[in-house]
Amino acid sequence: MTYTARLDQALNRLHEEGRYRTFIDIERKQGHFPHATWRRADGSESPITVWCGNDYLGMGQHPSVMTAMHEAIDATGAGSGGTRNISGTTLYHKRLEAELADLHGKEAALLFTSAYIANDATLSTLPKLFPGLIIYSDTLNHASMIEGVRRNGGAKRIFRHNDVAHLRELIEADDPAAPKLIAFESIYSMDGDFGPIEAICDLADEFDALTYIDEVHAVGMYGPRGAGVAERDRLMHRLDIINGTLAKAYGVMGGYIAASAKMCDAIRSYAPGFIFTTSLPPAVAAGAAASVAHLKRDTTLRDLHQERASILKTRLKAMGLPIIDHGSHIVPVIVGDPVHTKRLSDMLLEGYGIYVQPINFPTVPRGTERLRFTPAPVHGPGEMDRLVRAMDELWSHCALNRAELSA
Ligand SMILES: Cc1ncc(COP(=O)(O)O)c(C=O)c1O
Repeated sequence: MTYTARLDQALNRLHEEGRYRTFIDIERKQGHFPHATWRRADGSESPITVWCGNDYLGMGQHPSVMTAMHEAIDATGAGSGGTRNISGTTLYHKRLEAELADLHGKEAALLFTSAYIANDATLSTLPKLFPGLIIYSDTLNHASMIEGVRRNGGAKRIFRHNDVAHLRELIEADDPAAPKLIAFESIYSMDGDFGPIEAICDLADEFDALTYIDEVHAVGMYGPRGAGVAERDRLMHRLDIINGTLAKAYGVMGGYIAASAKMCDAIRSYAPGFIFTTSLPPAVAAGAAASVAHLKRDTTLRDLHQERASILKTRLKAMGLPIIDHGSHIVPVIVGDPVHTKRLSDMLLEGYGIYVQPINFPTVPRGTERLRFTPAPVHGPGEMDRLVRAMDELWSHCALNRAELSA
């Protein structure tokens, strides 16, 4: 058996299951998002409209973000040149951390190179800080949380998705004296459903557990200042650790946790994923800080975002398409078969210039393969009309079921 043959086998398995991922090469055009150019392998190109991006509010091309990044790069150069510990902590990093701590009403915030790393590094470090820690983790938590919990060597319990009664059962079965932490998300990005934040906080109070929430798909978009669903629901003060990204609604790159000064200090001091890696480029920190500051003040984009999502959902539902609607900004259309999902996505791209990536197992359970649309304020009525018409035609063409799924 050669190594190459093993690789062929592994890749063939994915092809056979219709799970092989093909990346679409796109060139975004500053000032024109969601319009972009699709560059094919043969060198040809076509204009496309991106309908599956996570630059939810179009902040990746916002003038205040771009200006801050240009100014920082002119002032300091490209990279930070070091880990946070060894010459890589700049005024830009400190300013961004202060901005984020203020956003979430916490004493401190700690930056990571992504929210993936923030989740993984924090959750894998907590048992070092709280020996005997038991982590209760929602079964649909993001891969980065699963990895962090899995690697930390501590005890873990997985509760059924959003099932607070099951969570209670698991906690009650454990030693009351053991330190505990409940890890969950505010918005689960594949179905767009909300976590039961208040009920989990109540349970955490009852059993003296810490709470850890991932607000990656909510920061910038929910709450009066864009701090997320916990802010919207006035629950931020009840969460011990809040995780967020700077790469989605904030349009740049990087992740963070916001928590007490002591918690951030301890993670800063013990988490290898924070310590042993180069810090974000100062220009990235500057752009992210400008984006966070802008979205604290300006609610226009947030309001428009919700409006666009609601219009798209209403129109797709009116055609009888099986969408999942939990009242968030995410619009999943269930196809239920990996091959059909890929085919629909290809037809949208090739026939209509509409780019939406197919979402397959293991990102979602088998049988729930889907197209996941992320409408943004930059998707105007023209883009919306073209998408709705294309979906209507393709659904008929492929003779797909129009039965409606309700949330
Ligand atoms: C729920 C959740 N948490 C964390 C992440 C990681 O965020 P980042 O892209 O900043 O690494 C993602 C990414 O999609 C996510 O969906």
